[in-house]
Amino acid sequence: MADLWQNAMDYAVAIARKAGEVVRDALRDDMKVMTKSSSVDLVTQTDQKVEQLIIQSVKEKFPTHRFIGEESVAAGEACDLTDSPTWIIDPIDGTTNFVHAFPFVAVSIGFSVNKQSEFGVVYSCLEDKMFTARRGKGAFCNGEPLKVSDQEDIKQSIIATEFGSSREPEAVDKIFSSLRNILCIPVHGVRGAGSAAINMCLVASGCVEAYYEIGIHIWDVAAGSLIVSEAGGVLMDVEGGGVDLMSRRIVAANRRAIAERIVKEIDSFSPPRDDTP
Ligand code: IPD
Repeated sequence: MADLWQNAMDYAVAIARKAGEVVRDALRDDMKVMTKSSSVDLVTQTDQKVEQLIIQSVKEKFPTHRFIGEESVAAGEACDLTDSPTWIIDPIDGTTNFVHAFPFVAVSIGFSVNKQSEFGVVYSCLEDKMFTARRGKGAFCNGEPLKVSDQEDIKQSIIATEFGSSREPEAVDKIFSSLRNILCIPVHGVRGAGSAAINMCLVASGCVEAYYEIGIHIWDVAAGSLIVSEAGGVLMDVEGGGVDLMSRRIVAANRRAIAERIVKEIDSFSPPRDDTP
């Protein structure tokens, strides 16, 4: 049977590559850096330009499809995931990295139908790595199959996380308390690429055993979530149970036991949901 969404996925890969070129070119220019929810939540004209480029290109080809885009939501659009085919876009995941030319910056495109993820594309544009996953068909990096780590022992693991963009003392205290608990399991190390999408691709590639974060948004993790699960990994909420991409909380791991061990150590909290206006 023909794959209904393969065409859309091929298109997403081509657009992500084009968007990546725009991001790479922009690194050479002077940037105008603006802020959103706080003085450390950065945005540039390139984030906005790349999101418009992606949305306009998709609209030409798939005029009935809907969008959730980081910069469109920042500009006041609703963050609504319906049953319609929906493109979930982070034009630059790792904007702070981009501003500082720290070399982990991704274009992230998730695609969902009936609230089920159909494909995910993460283009790590400074590394020139194209990560892709199609539901039920595996995950790939530059065409090579991906598989999560087979490490079963958390004490032999590397865990990825981020500090996020909240500087509220209560949230920062909880972030440090979780980090301390996890570090002292003890684990081999804690890392963070500065891009949720790339952290998830690192889980899918078997370079780290798990990634967790509270404060991410649906556009940061929509594509990466499918890439992790198609590479054989698991997704969980930070308190255990199923992940809810609107909840701004995620654990992605190579296996359930590692995810559950991390959950035990997380001092959880609940930021305002993405779908709450
Ligand atoms: C951010 C990055 C960062 C993570 C933040 C995200 P953005 O996305 O993924 O690693 O810690 O929670 O919001 O703002 O660069 O698209």
